[in-house]
Amino acid sequence: MKATPTATQTNHTAVSPSSDYNKLDPATEARVEELLSQMTLAEKTGQLFQLNPYGPFDWEHFEAKKAEAEKAGRPFRYDPKLRDDMEDLLRAGRIGSFLNVTQPAVINHCQRIIMEESRLRIPLIVGSDVIHGYRTIFPIPLGESATWNPELLQQASRVAAEEASAAGVDWIFAPMVDIARDPRWGRIAEGAGEDPFLGMAMAQARVRGFQATDLTSGRRIAACPKHYIGYGAAEAGRDYNSTDFSERTLRDVYLPPFTAAFEAGAGSVMSSFNEISGVPATANPLILKTILRDELQWPGLVVSDFESVRELIPHGFAADLKEAARLSILAGLDMEMVSDSYPKHLPELIESGEVPLAAVDEAVRRVLRLKFRLGLFENPYVDESLAEKIMLRPDFRELALEVAQESMVLLKNEADILPLSPETRLAVIGPLADNQADLLGCWALNNHPEDVETVLAGLSAYLPDDGWTHVAGCSIRDESPADIAAAVQTAETADVVLLVLGESANMSGEGHSRTHLGLPGRQQELVDAVAATGKPLVCVLMSGRPLVIPKLAGQVQALLAAWHGGIRAGRAVADILFGTVNPSGKLTASWPRSEGQIPVYYAHKNTGRPASESGTKQFAEAFKSVFIDVPNSPLFPFGFGLSYTNFEYANLQLEKSVLGLEDTLVVSATVTNRGSKAGAEVVQLYVRDLVGSVTRPVKELKGFQKIRLEAGEQQTVRFEVPVCELGFTGWDMRYGVEPGDFKVWIGPNAVEGLAGDFTVSAA
Ligand code: NOJ
Repeated sequence: MKATPTATQTNHTAVSPSSDYNKLDPATEARVEELLSQMTLAEKTGQLFQLNPYGPFDWEHFEAKKAEAEKAGRPFRYDPKLRDDMEDLLRAGRIGSFLNVTQPAVINHCQRIIMEESRLRIPLIVGSDVIHGYRTIFPIPLGESATWNPELLQQASRVAAEEASAAGVDWIFAPMVDIARDPRWGRIAEGAGEDPFLGMAMAQARVRGFQATDLTSGRRIAACPKHYIGYGAAEAGRDYNSTDFSERTLRDVYLPPFTAAFEAGAGSVMSSFNEISGVPATANPLILKTILRDELQWPGLVVSDFESVRELIPHGFAADLKEAARLSILAGLDMEMVSDSYPKHLPELIESGEVPLAAVDEAVRRVLRLKFRLGLFENPYVDESLAEKIMLRPDFRELALEVAQESMVLLKNEADILPLSPETRLAVIGPLADNQADLLGCWALNNHPEDVETVLAGLSAYLPDDGWTHVAGCSIRDESPADIAAAVQTAETADVVLLVLGESANMSGEGHSRTHLGLPGRQQELVDAVAATGKPLVCVLMSGRPLVIPKLAGQVQALLAAWHGGIRAGRAVADILFGTVNPSGKLTASWPRSEGQIPVYYAHKNTGRPASESGTKQFAEAFKSVFIDVPNSPLFPFGFGLSYTNFEYANLQLEKSVLGLEDTLVVSATVTNRGSKAGAEVVQLYVRDLVGSVTRPVKELKGFQKIRLEAGEQQTVRFEVPVCELGFTGWDMRYGVEPGDFKVWIGPNAVEGLAGDFTVSAA
């Protein structure tokens, strides 16, 4: 595969060896060719089909099973009914893959039918959505990215792989690497936020973790970065909506996390639901052929998203399923997820000559290659006793706690109200304080709310039983009667009010976009009533996205963004509130002041009429690119997050201020912990290319390092960025670095920091 710039300047090291599915080896290639030569057309198209073996949801079956469990007094977990025709399809070699089956006994049963009763014995590859953990649920990925700690995320992804592999999963449909700059879009929860450079680092870490080669099961997992490409640009943030962006934006903003994932060894990718310049991604030759194959020379497997081949019809791009199959295979889509245009129509399309057999053969090669590389032919079965031993292992739970602690972002801490002393009498108010299910977040397919530690449980580790009172006050999103008066009453008796507020898990994620991003339901009314008591307010805010909360942020003395923090969220919140853990998370997506500002992101362009102070003087500046009612700046910028200590930045030094195209930018600054507590700081490096053949963003992240300093300790943080990584897609649509003047900053977030200048010279 061709080399592309990678995410450097992170302090992450590999935690365990991982597979690289993009390095082809002659022995595997020979096995692929040998097998391919024996396959019939129906067997070939079968390999290109991923089946949802449960078929459409069967309510009658669900109700019957539920009643059965209730009658027997057992807790109810639904195991859906398998399709009646499934076993015959397996025997005939008509299925290449399963979607979201995580029952080892079912997987083994199906693999056994294939291995014992089908002609060519080509095992299934079982794909599943394991987005932020399998049973040990970590914070939502947006929260995980706020750790700015790729090494930690690699370990978390490895834990997800351990558990998923024990459940029989071979193929993880993650990482979700879509750049998201619109918090209305519910799927912003699933990714690493708004920035391509950070997205690259996180994508690589996750791929390496998922593809760890030393899993307890002895099996292997393949990662599947998604959604290729530009899905996060959905207009108005409405999920599945149309997107329209330039090819330059595609290449410079949306593509880098994918290329980074491929370089880390990801051997598959999922095409997205959206269109790109009018051509749906699933049948788009520019992205599937020109970019993936011709330019990147990437040999991996492309799977469609759920029924996105069939969706070419409502897109108005294909007249019927047959045309959808033809357009997709010709564009370079290898495997079809769930809709069945390939098995139904590819044989006739080949016979009629509308699709060359070579196109199908190439796609089948990619499927077989991955199956061989995963070792599925040698080891198609899952050890059915492993799951029970491995799920929620103590070390996994410990890691979930660490990730949750590092993911939380302290957004405000007036007069150092935090950390709290254990002597403080707390009134704990809000609908998320005693909540388990919502802390799991939007993508916990294997959903066990009973695994979750609530905030109340976390607090009980610090406070005596009579040290706090709790009233929910209202529900998360209903307008139904609330107990606001009781909340006020309990607030009156306390030293400090702890508000635990936010969104439910099902207010973000796939198909869950919002237009109003404030506190849902009657929560703001609850805050207003409690604020009227005059008691100091500390707020823990749980959400699947950046919220729009200027009023709340003004009312409370301290504000902690805790996301949907997974099974250990409650304990992590308490550790931060009482100061056993010093918060170190920083935002990876800007928090707007108002929905009307969206999209608001730090790497915006300057425009021909920039406001002189990032829009904050909007009323004084006529005919500038500003609003008349709200500043341009976000409420909390990208990269922002407070600590219980203070870090001072000084002495920005550039090794050379004139650099050649082959040189490396070397720039450093000293960071000193001026407070009285040890803490971690994410030191960020930004650059701006002042003049280009096309306009450039006002700042671009080019490096970050998370450092830990004792009180009083100082460290010189040095960044090395090869000049070749300062390029972009120029007017001629080629990637390159353009000589000229640059600005550079080292700082604690995207708006503050020490600034310097350098020049790139062509000579
Ligand atoms: C649709 C989602 O867009 C995708 O992320 C997921 O992997 C598939 N469904 C499979 O569940």
